[in-house]
Amino acid sequence: MDALKAILTKRDSRSFTEQPVDDNDLSRVLQAGRMAGSAKNVQPCRFVVLTETTRKQELAACGQFSAWIPQAPVNIAVVIPEDGRDFDAGRSAQNMMVAANALGLASCPVTMHDQDCARRVLDLPDGYRVSIVLAIGHPVEGTTAGMGAARVPLDEMVHRERW
Ligand SMILES: Cc1cc2nc3c(=O)[nH]c(=O)nc-3n(C[C@H](O)[C@H](O)[C@H](O)COP(=O)(O)O)c2cc1C
Repeated sequence: MDALKAILTKRDSRSFTEQPVDDNDLSRVLQAGRMAGSAKNVQPCRFVVLTETTRKQELAACGQFSAWIPQAPVNIAVVIPEDGRDFDAGRSAQNMMVAANALGLASCPVTMHDQDCARRVLDLPDGYRVSIVLAIGHPVEGTTAGMGAARVPLDEMVHRERW
């Protein structure tokens, strides 16, 4: 899949088959996250990969809209320092989700509303927090591309020279 198609067809999905994610594909997804640029090239992101059901269930309890994430074979927590930029984490996260889409994998970003809970479950060092969690797996047919809400029209979104 070419890069533009991988970007434009990426929609978030919360439905996954039980098929595990191939190790090689997971490595490629993580590599895509690693290569994202960051402000001042600080490279603040670290990734915690969860595949054990019990661990995913514990993490799912740390968000308000995350009960479904254990269904995904892989959860990736994007971790940054307390004072780190969520923009940097977002670049890594979107890289990983677009790469996953190019590999035929579905994904969705998930918020950890209870950071103390997420820190405890992931055993994070002091001074770190979870910026976002990605749920990744093989899509259930018919549940991904084009199933989400429509985007704001381009001519409503884009202003030229001034607002
Ligand atoms: C920063 C961020 C946090 C999100 N948190 C959650 C979440 O906690 N639970 C969830 O189910 N979806 C979450 N989402 C997914 C959004 O609901 C999704 O991106 C939006 O509905 C667009 O979906 P679409 O690409 O299928 O149109 C989050 C998305 C972003 C960008």
